[in-house]
Amino acid sequence: MTDQAPDAIPEIPGKPTSASRTTLSHIMTHNDTNLLGTVHGGVIMKLVDDAAGAVAGRHSGGPAVTASMDEMVFLEPVRVGDLVHVKSQVNWTGRTSMEIGVRVLAERWNESAPATQVGSAYLVFAAVDADGKPRRVPQVLPETDRDRRRYQEAQIRRTHRLARRRAIRELREKRAAEGFED
Ligand SMILES: CC(C)(COP(=O)(O)OP(=O)(O)OC[C@H]1O[C@@H](n2cnc3c(N)ncnc32)[C@H](O)[C@@H]1OP(=O)(O)O)[C@@H](O)C(=O)NCCC(=O)NCCS
Repeated sequence: MTDQAPDAIPEIPGKPTSASRTTLSHIMTHNDTNLLGTVHGGVIMKLVDDAAGAVAGRHSGGPAVTASMDEMVFLEPVRVGDLVHVKSQVNWTGRTSMEIGVRVLAERWNESAPATQVGSAYLVFAAVDADGKPRRVPQVLPETDRDRRRYQEAQIRRTHRLARRRAIRELREKRAAEGFED
């Protein structure tokens, strides 16, 4: 016998950050270059989205879609022959969404010099069910001081994303009410 309401949703057990942390590695070839001969930013963005998607899928235990990608930063050009490592982890979880932090590192494929950071990004993924509707995700359980700092910083970004969306929506509604058509 239980006193749980019939429609109550059982709590999903949390998952530690390390359970889904992932590194995707890829050697850059001539197929990946832009007109300047360095690697196209879009190639790096695809790897970032792929790596973050793997983390989101592993953490949420099912399909997850990219809701947003922001603060994509390119620090150094990537060249043909670079071995690129895309390191991703869940920084923060909400009810149905997750912020995934990504760091992009590059090293020469045939040299032993240490890899340098060439980019970073933050992506929000929403976990979805078979109908594409958002579904609940396990809470991420930060394990290290760095994980906890990233969690706190992700909360700041979340607050700013929501505030910016709300402010823009309100401005558009106000302009529409004033008769502007754009
Ligand atoms: C992302 C998507 C599932 C959100 O659906 P929705 O009906 O707007 O659902 P909600 O408003 O409840 O949002 C779900 C979660 O995503 C978050 N979210 C939605 N849009 C967001 C955005 N632009 N930025 C950040 N977070 C966002 C919400 O805050 C919510 O998080 P929470 O439950 O943790 O609070 C839907 O917009 C979608 O399917 N988009 C297309 C995704 C896709 O195809 N990506 C690949 C591009 S080719």
